[in-house]
Amino acid sequence: MHWLMDFEDVLRGRRSVRQYQKKGISRELVQSLIRNAEAAPSAGNLRARRYIVVTDPQMRKALSIAAYGQSQVETASALVVVCADVDRSSQRYGDRGSLFSIQDAAAATMCLLLAAHNQGLGACWTGAFDDQIVREALDLEIRVLPVAIISLGWPAESPLPPAQRDLGEMVRWIA
Ligand SMILES: Cc1cc2nc3c(=O)[nH]c(=O)nc-3n(C[C@H](O)[C@H](O)[C@H](O)COP(=O)(O)O)c2cc1C
Repeated sequence: MHWLMDFEDVLRGRRSVRQYQKKGISRELVQSLIRNAEAAPSAGNLRARRYIVVTDPQMRKALSIAAYGQSQVETASALVVVCADVDRSSQRYGDRGSLFSIQDAAAATMCLLLAAHNQGLGACWTGAFDDQIVREALDLEIRVLPVAIISLGWPAESPLPPAQRDLGEMVRWIA
């Protein structure tokens, strides 16, 4: 039984984990992560996002090649490819819909990563991939954009926290 963590520990303790044990993740656990991803806000509550779960080794290999050979995509126990449903959002919001659907997908991705960490899983957001190859491999409709390939597995590494930028460079107060 994995103890659920304090919220601040979940936020601060999450790392991009790219090495995994050779041990599967149950379908129920992946489904619970997706339910938690749906806790994310969504423009107009359209929930203009889709989730494609991949465990098939050949498809993982194909997606790893599409991601320029990134090994976490091949070696993960499961992948959740989070996509923006651009059409769904554009029907209501026109040009702005494409940005909204990408933001919908990104917000869900973040929630899924936190939920995974909270369950003791390792996960990594892979965003560097060839859209067209991923789209073809997954047979996505033309106006569905893959946003993140989330690799999931029981962790086989504990990465150190990355360098932080000075907040003074990033924050401007208008008071
Ligand atoms: C939009 C986006 C794209 C990313 N793409 C990749 C990627 O293609 N490959 C990878 O290994 N990590 C990728 N990452 C993970 C970052 O490298 C990682 O979040 C960053 O180094 C900070 O480390 P942390 O997640 O452990 O805090 C991506 C993260 C984001 C938000």
